[in-house]
Amino acid sequence: MPRIANLYFKTAIIFLILGISIGLHMSISGNHAATGAHAHANLLGWVTMAIFGVYHALNPQKAARRLATIQYAVYTFGVAVLIPSLYLMLSGNAAMEPVVAVSSLIAFAGVLLFAVIIFSSGEVVATAASPAR
Ligand code: HEM
Repeated sequence: MPRIANLYFKTAIIFLILGISIGLHMSISGNHAATGAHAHANLLGWVTMAIFGVYHALNPQKAARRLATIQYAVYTFGVAVLIPSLYLMLSGNAAMEPVVAVSSLIAFAGVLLFAVIIFSSGEVVATAASPAR
């Protein structure tokens, strides 16, 4: 499996653990205020990152590009800041709102970069495993 696909799956499972932990906490406490943070940890974190990972596993030539690493860094940073700031905001900390806004835009930029990856041509690039001919 390409390195970036493996990295995406490792990151995704961390977000699933986090997302389910928030869900269990809401269920046990009876306070569902953090539903948005729970849903986004599971969907932007676990589901979307796993799909990105599958795409890279199916397209190893694209996964080897520098753009794939940049996209991973931008998207993961955005989601990693968004989830805790959204959790805090929904728990009553209104000061977190600008952080939620900026991190949302960063995560969206990561999605746009993934669109660039999808629409780019899939021609083989030189890697250690597949040298250019
Ligand atoms: C043990 C695992 C889970 C627990 C205990 C849990 C618990 C909860 C709870 C308590 C709510 C709030 C419901 C409400 O206030 O109406 C909720 C909402 C939600 N959960 Fe989970 N959840 C779990 C797993 C997941 C997973 C894996 C996903 C997605 C992949 C997910 C997606 C959502 C979404 C989208 C909502 C919002 C639904 C709405 O507002 O209509 N949950 N969950």
